Amino acid sequence: MKKFYIETFGCQMNVHDSEKVIGTLVSQGYQQVETPEDAELVLYNTCSIRDKAEQKVFSRLQQFKREQGKGKVFAVLGCVAQQEGGKIFERAPHVSLVCGSASYNKLGDLLVQIERGDKRVTGLSLDTDETFETPMTRRDNPHRAYITIIEGCDKACAYCVVPMTRGPERSRTSESVLEEARRLADAGYTEVQLLGQNVNSYRDSSDRGWDFARLLRAVAGVPGLRRVRFTTSHPRDFVRDIIEAIDDHEVLCNHVHLPVQSGSSSVLDRMQRLYTRDQYMRRIEWMKAARRPIAISTDIIVGFPGESEADFEATLALLEEVEYDSVFSFKYSKRPNTPALALEDHIPEEEKSRRLTVLQDVQRAIQLRRNSALVGSTDEAMAEGFNNATGQWIGRTSQNRTLNFTHALHTAPGNGDNLIGRYLPVRVTRAGANSLAGEAVLSAN
Ligand code: 5AD
Ligand code: SF4
Repeated sequence: MKKFYIETFGCQMNVHDSEKVIGTLVSQGYQQVETPEDAELVLYNTCSIRDKAEQKVFSRLQQFKREQGKGKVFAVLGCVAQQEGGKIFERAPHVSLVCGSASYNKLGDLLVQIERGDKRVTGLSLDTDETFETPMTRRDNPHRAYITIIEGCDKACAYCVVPMTRGPERSRTSESVLEEARRLADAGYTEVQLLGQNVNSYRDSSDRGWDFARLLRAVAGVPGLRRVRFTTSHPRDFVRDIIEAIDDHEVLCNHVHLPVQSGSSSVLDRMQRLYTRDQYMRRIEWMKAARRPIAISTDIIVGFPGESEADFEATLALLEEVEYDSVFSFKYSKRPNTPALALEDHIPEEEKSRRLTVLQDVQRAIQLRRNSALVGSTDEAMAEGFNNATGQWIGRTSQNRTLNFTHALHTAPGNGDNLIGRYLPVRVTRAGANSLAGEAVLSAN
């Protein structure tokens, strides 16, 4: 049997793509192994969102260059593959396959070419209307499953490679999404996460023509599912119906990830984000006015070209105003073929680092404050794992907080019932900036 090894970089879309790629390989008679040394086919599913992510794959390829003579075949998939295309063969001549995510539906054929001995096989076309659906997705997590609802991106944020690496937007039909959700629930999954670069611009490709809020309500109604998450949202397309759906359906997790990128309208304008600070804040107000307490998280880029000290301070003020439950923050990184390259006033690296540190300190204090206010409350946690070092179950709440907990009766996975995959009420006893700790509440009987 032919053996393959795959390593995945980047976002959840990539993680899920790899699950589908693995399913495709297994259906073609390949077997997955744990180390590249054991494999005949080594695949890297790559990310190019920032320069650092892109460099990782080239350092991996360098590392294994000497293996070339041993008959291994190397494949570069994903966003770096799409971005660099055939140039990868020049930089790393031992690579035989370069394939972007919009061409994965041709992966089976491309593998056949590789097996025939072809040395430079590419799948780089972006002109597809299809999403990558395969009946053979290989999922490793037995409780949470990803479902792609929309692929690609039609926005043109000035800093971002994704419209180039993942191609134009295309949505699945609501029926195929629901069918997959039902199948997963029947197989025992209780949590699903709907994925897309911009889930809010979902538009059913069948005659039903459902929008995202309508799809959410329907997925929430699938028997057996207890948690439905979705990511990522774009503020411009984030409509009030989505919040109403969350209010109406307990199954929809009360957490929204709404990347703002900057708190300054002039920076937002230069980023081509298509909303102002005020328009963004209106969406935050909708969420704060919801009946359920909705946790809010965001992404921020510091040091975008031309970001002044005043712009940066507007971002810090926004953090204080929104009081996010969590923030992913990044230094602006120049990306090939993006509009922002043409902008002036690039910010020096040390200044970007300084701003990032200041921002992360401000946010850490906000999170500590917010989490501390939860001490004494009870929330439902899904046990996702067990930490041997601390003797705690690793839990997650609907709001997407990490809530680690002890259980008086179940002290370790081997001792009696394993709690992993179960939903339990947990009383919060301690708070940190990034997680909560507590004790499972035992039922009265
Ligand atoms: N530089 C830094 N961060 C970026 N992101 C996207 N492109 C860049 C870039 N060129 C960030 C954005 C996005 C997240 C996934 O990555 O904040 O929301
Ligand atoms: Fe990285 Fe963006 Fe591609 Fe995801 S879509 S792998 S974050 S470049």
